[in-house]
Amino acid sequence: MEVADAIGECLGPVALFCPASGDTPGLLYQELARRVAGGMLDVEGWQFVGLDEWVGMNGEDPGSCRNSLDKELFEPLQIDPRRICFFDGRAADPENECALAERFIREHGRIDLAVLGIGMNGHIAMNEPGTDIDGRSHVVELHPVTRQTGQKYFNGPRALERGITLGMGTLLDARHIFLLAVGGHKASVVQRALEGPVTAEWPASLLRQHAGLRVFLDREAASALGKA
Ligand code: PGA
Repeated sequence: MEVADAIGECLGPVALFCPASGDTPGLLYQELARRVAGGMLDVEGWQFVGLDEWVGMNGEDPGSCRNSLDKELFEPLQIDPRRICFFDGRAADPENECALAERFIREHGRIDLAVLGIGMNGHIAMNEPGTDIDGRSHVVELHPVTRQTGQKYFNGPRALERGITLGMGTLLDARHIFLLAVGGHKASVVQRALEGPVTAEWPASLLRQHAGLRVFLDREAASALGKA
């Protein structure tokens, strides 16, 4: 798998990895787990920082970002929780969670690799349309599209009002950024990100300013490119 190979190439034995949750990277995480179990990939020296979380939720909540990454990545890779810094959306002071994440990243220098998906409104993590390009971790009022599409992660309807997210500035400081998209429903979203104007109104387009960006698309997600 090309993207798993690329992770192996750009992350050394000691690295800070920022993995997205969501539907997009599921197969990638399965492949990483297979490689670790088979002795083909060593993640012993990796540390992890969470990308985003819904306010009011943490790893105890099925469907939360942390809960899904625990199941899909951290548990299969047998990562000691002490090697993970993740926003606790149930914390009494969400702003403090932002400060903790930024400090954790600073202590490690910077994020070595952020693996990101793209939202139907062009968001990156929970950096919503109109986000601050230099922004650090922050608490955000969620965009209507995020509130709606986020329902798919839960068994029943949830009031998704606010989130905690690494900022665009935090992410653009990463050494490598991989942007992943799969499926025809992402085709126009990807086209706008890669071929439309670079604007905070479509946060994924801001990633084009990053010299270490690599984009991984399946055929369907790439199907609108070059046709606008
Ligand atoms: P998805 O989410 O991977 O579930 O499509 C992407 C996102 O909203 O960033």
